[in-house]
Amino acid sequence: MTDHLRLGVNIDHVATVRNARGAGYPDPVKAALVAAEAGADGITAHLREDRRHITDEDIARLSAELTVPLNLEMAATEEMLAIALKHRPHAACIVPEKREERTTEGGLDAAGQREWLGPMVAKLGEAGIRVSLFIEPDPRQIEAALHLGVPVVELHTGRYAELDGPERTEELRRLSDAAALAAKNGIEVHAGHGLTYDNVAPIAAIPQVRELNIGHFLIADAVFVGLPEVVRKMRAAMDIAR
Ligand code: PXP
Repeated sequence: MTDHLRLGVNIDHVATVRNARGAGYPDPVKAALVAAEAGADGITAHLREDRRHITDEDIARLSAELTVPLNLEMAATEEMLAIALKHRPHAACIVPEKREERTTEGGLDAAGQREWLGPMVAKLGEAGIRVSLFIEPDPRQIEAALHLGVPVVELHTGRYAELDGPERTEELRRLSDAAALAAKNGIEVHAGHGLTYDNVAPIAAIPQVRELNIGHFLIADAVFVGLPEVVRKMRAAMDIAR
């Protein structure tokens, strides 16, 4: 087992900004290529039922153009299954999806939906797609993942990211315990949601965690890292024209 903790960069919110203006930019595929160039080990994109950020065309282009693995986040629906089978991404992470939510709130109820998920997990697996389930750090959900035969689970760190003090410490313990339980049973452990520079270290230090998927914070901070340079460039372009 290598000690390298993989970073999956979620580029959904580049598409959110693009869609806000209905223009062709910023291009999430370009962002994916830049992220890969900068050291991302993989790219994650969530094709939501309402296509609020990533579109079908983005998935087609990511599948064609990426040189690092694509992790497609998808709801457990027949429509998304067909899209995954068409493009055959390296991995598919099954997430719960509610139309009205702003982001993925809470993990998948793998324990309660085993019958529905079973055939879907099997079809994705048969197509050579590495299936993961986005679940809360709860032993019942790990057991369900084990019964479903998935190779990977992604532990939801959203609650950890929102809490502080002793409650955060307790949630971190639940995450560590869930990671240990999953790994002991041969399931690869990923984690993600709400991670930032300030809260990533304790999650990155959980030895069984092999991959982190991070999106919103990276895209948000990129604005501040990049803004000085783009303002200087525009200033220069305007000055040269006078
Ligand atoms: N992992 C999964 C399964 C997600 O649904 C998301 C959000 O799309 C993330 C990771 C990344 O979360 P964030 O954007 O808060 O970093």
